[in-house]
Amino acid sequence: MKYDVIVIGAGPGGYTAANKAAKHGLNVLLIEKDKVGGTCLNRGCIPMKSIIESARVYNTSLQSELYGIKNDNVSFDYSLINSRRDDVVKTLREGVEKSLKSNKVDVVYGVAKIVSKNIVECDNNQYETTNIIIATGSVVSIPPIEGIEYAITSNEVLETDYKLPESVVIIGGGVIGVEIASALNSFGSKITILEMANSLIPTMDKEVGQRLNMFFKKKGIDVNCLASVKAIKKDNENRIVEYDDSKGERKQIVCKQVIVATGRRANIDNLVDENVGLEINRGIVADENGKTNIDNIYVIGDAKANNIQLAHVAEAQGENIIDIILNKPLSNDMNIIPSGIYTDPEIAFVGIREDDLKQNNISYESKKYLTGANGKCLIENSESGFVKVCTVDGVIVSGTIIAPHATELIGELSIAIEKKMSLKQFSEVVHPHPTISEMLWHVTKE
Ligand code: NAI
Repeated sequence: MKYDVIVIGAGPGGYTAANKAAKHGLNVLLIEKDKVGGTCLNRGCIPMKSIIESARVYNTSLQSELYGIKNDNVSFDYSLINSRRDDVVKTLREGVEKSLKSNKVDVVYGVAKIVSKNIVECDNNQYETTNIIIATGSVVSIPPIEGIEYAITSNEVLETDYKLPESVVIIGGGVIGVEIASALNSFGSKITILEMANSLIPTMDKEVGQRLNMFFKKKGIDVNCLASVKAIKKDNENRIVEYDDSKGERKQIVCKQVIVATGRRANIDNLVDENVGLEINRGIVADENGKTNIDNIYVIGDAKANNIQLAHVAEAQGENIIDIILNKPLSNDMNIIPSGIYTDPEIAFVGIREDDLKQNNISYESKKYLTGANGKCLIENSESGFVKVCTVDGVIVSGTIIAPHATELIGELSIAIEKKMSLKQFSEVVHPHPTISEMLWHVTKE
């Protein structure tokens, strides 16, 4: 049998594309080497957020007297936290499996290799197809640091038998690094972050990283920016991390565990036979719609060169790629991509960074509203965050939220930017009180 589409990789991009193609009557084969759900569901976003939610409940319980609740002897059992997380993952994975079954997507488990533009091989079977969608995601990128084999990655942190270490050095203060730092610190691990850039989460405005640094300081997390890690050594149960600090002075930290979180790279090793002639350059090279240099081969998600590595980006591209194959208008506009970081408090961002507006000499206005003036933030005992909106010629071009539930609220600003709303138009939309969302309304007022 010849398939209409073979999708390789069953993460959010791959299973979305497979389900949509099948719903539109195409014959679809999905090949997955591990479990459906990909990194996001099995060893990324979902399990991490489950741990972070347990951390939030524990923190709130510890502070219950603040709310007038007596709750002596609060404690946790990390193995139960892990098993709750595994239950959440299992439930969601079963949901994905069911959706593939009900849409009649053929699923084969094994390692796929594209041997020609119309043939994909898996476990000595060859499958013929009209179109191929590569959705193989990314893997942890390991920096060339001496002794890096003594470090673990976020994959191990999210394994069922992971045990809380007494002290941890996290190499990399990007999204994964700060989320792990925030969660493990809540459960009492002593955390030090070594970040080579000049602030945490350098992909966002510098003031966001600085604000997070301030929160972390209060919680006892040590942050060292402009740190250059030179070596990791093993001394029985201890790890010794050697690094040059911002002044170039050699320093040492002794800890029980080192976690490396310095980025991810496209997972495409041995995926495509050279004879296929697919263009590869730190990922599969493709245009903004995922079309590669081979007319029937497409790529979506983290496997694509220079893609934003987010699950919702892969999912949106998964829908769009089927639109392209079916010659339909695209379902999703890929220009406005919100992002969220699940620290305490949460951080969310969408649009053009204020730092970039400044750097490019674009004339803009920036308005800020502090969470200290918001009733719901005070009720939820939140740290001092803010909502910031930037406009160009009165039109909203970006938004930053540092507040509880920021990752839920950023959608409002995404719609405003996508629909090119002016500050005035947004300000006319009455928001409910008392809510955290009313800060968005207030910040847009005169
Ligand atoms: P990242 O690119 O966000 O951060 C890596 C950090 O490591 C950067 O700040 C970089 O300056 C630093 N770094 C690189 N090499 C270093 C070295 N040798 N020493 C010290 N610092 C070093 O990568 P991360 O955090 O690993 O995340 C990978 C991808 O997964 C990202 O694209 C991220 O957006 C995505 N992700 C998104 C999540 C979310 O949306 N909440 C959650 C988890 C991951």
